[in-house]
Amino acid sequence: MDKKVILLTGASSGLGKSTADYLTKKGYIVLGTSRTAAHPDEIRIDANTSFPLMIKMDVTSEQSISQVISFIQKKFGRIDILINNAGWGISGPIEKTSIDVTKSLFEINVFGMLRVTQQVLPLMRTQNQGLIINISSIGGVIGLPFQGLYSASKFAVEGISESLRMEVSQFGIKVVLVEPGDFKTSFTNNRKKICSSSSTYAQLLKRTTTVFEHDEQNGCDPILLAFKIEKIIRSSHPKVRYRIGSFSQKLVARIKGFISDKIVQWILMKYYKVK
Ligand SMILES: NC(=O)c1ccc[n+]([C@@H]2O[C@H](COP(=O)([O-])OP(=O)(O)OC[C@H]3O[C@@H](n4cnc5c(N)ncnc54)[C@H](OP(=O)(O)O)[C@@H]3O)[C@@H](O)[C@H]2O)c1
Repeated sequence: MDKKVILLTGASSGLGKSTADYLTKKGYIVLGTSRTAAHPDEIRIDANTSFPLMIKMDVTSEQSISQVISFIQKKFGRIDILINNAGWGISGPIEKTSIDVTKSLFEINVFGMLRVTQQVLPLMRTQNQGLIINISSIGGVIGLPFQGLYSASKFAVEGISESLRMEVSQFGIKVVLVEPGDFKTSFTNNRKKICSSSSTYAQLLKRTTTVFEHDEQNGCDPILLAFKIEKIIRSSHPKVRYRIGSFSQKLVARIKGFISDKIVQWILMKYYKVK
């Protein structure tokens, strides 16, 4: 059987890079995207490459996405798997985060994922098969203090993915959510930090940020996510969602809905030193 063709957004670093490298080693044809890679026209195709083929794409640009998809369609004729991984974070008080900054976050995490998905779906429909894996977060199931707008963007990813899964199942297309806990990547450094030392939130923000940045920088190895993704790809009946991270993070996400919201909030506020 021909090698499966994978389009993986945000493959230049962190979870995306690790997954792209691993899947390539496993024999998949991985087209990884980055805003700084070579333009599609400059890419030379070697289906036996031992490295992911990196292509320039910005998920905030409709045109950039369509160039990449027509390039892949021309060269390979199909996209078997789409992994929407490109993402960005913001930390800071919701009250102090401007609407413009919030919009730029949603442009990547929500509309970026949606743009790529909407452009890949027609091809997957004609193939009568496809798998879309959307990288959400445990923060997409639980509202995290001082990462509220990031959480909001991942809650949106969750809602879109759950609905889309039902809509496209008739075409043989599967939609899966992956919810990572803390992983050690460049996400912490790349995140936009909204803070001002004069802010009424300054002290609390510093305490909470210290906790989650420490957890991220001591988080899981990205290769674990790559293993999980490969398992999902090989599964003939993938589940709606897969959670991956430390035991305690997965546990809190799991008990939400079973125990009182007040208790969940108490646990989170204690853990993140919000009280
Ligand atoms: N690390 C964690 O603890 C964690 C936990 C839960 C969920 N996640 C999610 O996992 C995903 C990957 O994060 P990461 O930890 O690997 O972060 P990362 O190391 O900062 O990587 C982010 C990736 O997204 C790409 N990207 C950013 N903006 C983009 C844009 N406008 N268009 C196209 N690509 C863009 C970057 O590529 P270029 O800059 O090269 O374009 C980079 O490859 C994100 O969706 C994140 O929300 C991470």
